[in-house]
Amino acid sequence: MARYEINGGKPLNGTVTISGAKNAAVAILPAALLVSGKCRIENVPDISDVRILIDILRGMGAKIQLPEKNVVEIDCSDVQCSQPDAGLVVQLRASYYLMGALLGRFGKAHVAQPGGCNFASRPIDQHIKGFLGLGADVEETEYYVALTSGKQGLSGGRISLDMASVGATVNIMLAATLIPGQTIIENAAKEPHIVDLANFLNTMGARVTGAGTDTIKIRGVNSLRGGSYCIIPDQIEAGTYMAAVTAAGGNVLVQNVIPKHMDCITSKLQEMGARIINYDDSIRVIRDGPLRKTTVKTQPYPGFPTDMQAQVCVCMSLAGGISRLIESVYETRFFGYCTELESMGAKIRISDKTATVTGVAQLRGSTVYAHDLRAGAALVIAGLAAQGITYVEQIHFIERGYENLIEKLTALGADIRRVED
Ligand code: EPU
Repeated sequence: MARYEINGGKPLNGTVTISGAKNAAVAILPAALLVSGKCRIENVPDISDVRILIDILRGMGAKIQLPEKNVVEIDCSDVQCSQPDAGLVVQLRASYYLMGALLGRFGKAHVAQPGGCNFASRPIDQHIKGFLGLGADVEETEYYVALTSGKQGLSGGRISLDMASVGATVNIMLAATLIPGQTIIENAAKEPHIVDLANFLNTMGARVTGAGTDTIKIRGVNSLRGGSYCIIPDQIEAGTYMAAVTAAGGNVLVQNVIPKHMDCITSKLQEMGARIINYDDSIRVIRDGPLRKTTVKTQPYPGFPTDMQAQVCVCMSLAGGISRLIESVYETRFFGYCTELESMGAKIRISDKTATVTGVAQLRGSTVYAHDLRAGAALVIAGLAAQGITYVEQIHFIERGYENLIEKLTALGADIRRVED
């Protein structure tokens, strides 16, 4: 098994370029199933989640070419299959987007239950509620979800989500794009990748309005045509590098970002003592002094993202005073990394949804285990900031979502390498 070896304690300096957004790419690739013709998708991150999705779509009959780095040309016109390979589907969470896309395209879908990062119970009842609201019949078992067009056929409907679920919002948008009538999603998620998916669909001829607000309207169209689209930068990858500089110290220009998407993360890192300067499409992060305690509560966008919880916890571990970290999206997410951070010297007490973090003067190298993608990223940051050598095991979780992590960190002066057994 491969691991990362990090010789920590060195500040980060230089420029890092952020890749395309993972969570947009994993929605937009399945969305190509709805398109008659070729889509050219640019700024697609080369990460394992995307590679698996490409394998799934190829297995279903999609013609896919990778003409240059980070570009995917995909033509799903000849796809006939509505049952993707279960062995591949269970390898990632976002494979559940095949449900909405296939229901919209064929009026039926048979998709294995998704796998991926299981840091919490991750039900899909709101996705199912959405499919039912569009007139589908749903059979759900422990192993798969089978969708068919109900007796009345599929048609637009008004779906009010019980919580602003990213996955359910995406799945309903995908399913509704090609079915007759208007669909209204109330209490929709507002994350940047929801807007990116809407922009992709509209570029191909869909009629989606309101993405980025809590009410999204989709007027069904007969077909989508091919075209070109460029995926937005990854908010969480950018935030991870910003947190890395905050924890390890240094001066880094984080480029290819949308600073507005970063506001909530920026203001918390500033509160902790990082100096942050926004430019048009880049952000400079400087940390040359001590860190201060803060309180962070994770929330859906535009709040502080749950996907940055673990990374900011590392910064808190090195900040003077007692910080509080409140998780309001996935209650059990602390368990993926707090014990590992404690083995590096962090002082964290978890009670219900709150972690109380008492800052320490320094972390020390240790052997730690990534239990999910963002937990793994946080352990890398801890390793960069710590004195001594850190080995991060189970790095396949990290490689799901961070393109060229080793190359990017090495270019910033980090002493990190991927070691194979
Ligand atoms: N929820 C339900 N029922 C549902 C759907 C969600 O109870 O049918 C609950 C969840 O349990 C959770 C909350 O609603 O408490 C929000 O879940 P959401 O559906 O928004 O999350 P998701 O779609 O499963 C996406 C990202 C996650 C990110 C969350 C929250 C993708 C592929 N995944 O997950 O990203 O943590 O939104 O922002 O977009 C990651 O990138 O590392 C990652 C885990």
